[in-house]
Amino acid sequence: MEEFTAEKLSQYNGKNQPTPIYISVKGRVFDVTSGSSFYGPGGSYEMFAGKDASRALAKMSKNDEDISPNLDGLTEKEITVLNDWEKKFEAKYPVVGRYITC
Ligand code: HEM
Repeated sequence: MEEFTAEKLSQYNGKNQPTPIYISVKGRVFDVTSGSSFYGPGGSYEMFAGKDASRALAKMSKNDEDISPNLDGLTEKEITVLNDWEKKFEAKYPVVGRYITC
């Protein structure tokens, strides 16, 4: 399975068309190109494109400091929210690789 560093993933941010748009959730990279109305330029969630959005999804936050794979200090409720997002992504988008931190 293809491995993505933060730097490599950032190239799939929707700004380099026709490159696909990728978002990582809990270490799995999803091809969200079919959701480009959300994640493409001008979309409501374009800040997540090319990033691991796990923390932001857990906290229902679009703040830059929350757009991170770091799950430290999340509440049980936030973890549940994140797991629900993971299920939604699994049902809707193909997995294309894994996010790695080194
Ligand atoms: C007033 C606040 C909000 C409203 C009314 C709202 C509403 C919506 C709606 C209507 C959709 C489209 C759902 C669909 O067609 O499947 C959507 C998608 C989405 N929302 Fe929000 N949203 C809000 C806030 C947020 C926040 C704060 C986040 C931060 C995590 C968020 C994350 C997302 C994501 C990631 C999607 C795209 C899911 C996908 O790829 O299918 N939303 N939202």
